Amino acid sequence: MLSVLILAPLVTYLVYVAAPGSTLFSWHPTCMVLSFGLLMPAGAELLSLRRWSRSWRVRLHWGLQSAGVALALLGFAAIYQNKESRGAAHLTSTHGQLGLATVGTAVVQSAGGLLALFSVSVKTGRATLLRLRTVRLLHALAGGGLTLLGLCTLRLGLDSAWFHAVATPLVRPAADVLLGAAALRVLYKVLTSRPVKQA
Ligand code: HEM
Repeated sequence: MLSVLILAPLVTYLVYVAAPGSTLFSWHPTCMVLSFGLLMPAGAELLSLRRWSRSWRVRLHWGLQSAGVALALLGFAAIYQNKESRGAAHLTSTHGQLGLATVGTAVVQSAGGLLALFSVSVKTGRATLLRLRTVRLLHALAGGGLTLLGLCTLRLGLDSAWFHAVATPLVRPAADVLLGAAALRVLYKVLTSRPVKQA
């Protein structure tokens, strides 16, 4: 749970300054930081908590990741609708473009997670394209990649005019340290962990 602890101050601060519910926009940073800064890292980290049974870890993992993807879709809907209501152009910043790729990757990764959950190999006719072992390995590696992508998008969100207006100056360098430490933790987990086998 180290990445969750590292990111906790940033998640708390962002939700605080966003003041969820105050405007339609406020739901964007709120949903996104709860998804990519809390639920998804927590869902990934708990897989290696060996003191819990494997089936519980897998159940909690997909529960948290599904909630994370649902929040990411809500966060996307909030910013999309916010721009529509102001007549503003879409996907004009690197943050917005990478953000769309991040949300898209999260949806694709969920589909891969369903294959791993229901122990399905990828086949064409009789030939097995991807064995279950490979599906699980790819799911674990892609999960690490998605978490890093999410952290990069969060970081770019902190460069937005909105965040400059609401944050105190010292927050951005502090957030850089936290996001960098969390990224290193995710890389370490990806390089050292083995995919969870199901019973
Ligand atoms: C991983 C988390 C995030 C994702 C996936 C994400 C995704 C996106 C996307 C796709 C857009 C463009 C929507 C459009 O053009 O219709 C956008 C815009 C925006 N986001 Fe995020 N976002 C994330 C986190 C954040 C955070 C934490 C903040 C604030 C600190 C933020 C602030 C903004 C702002 C101000 C815009 C409007 C300006 C622009 O298009 O760049 N986002 N975001």
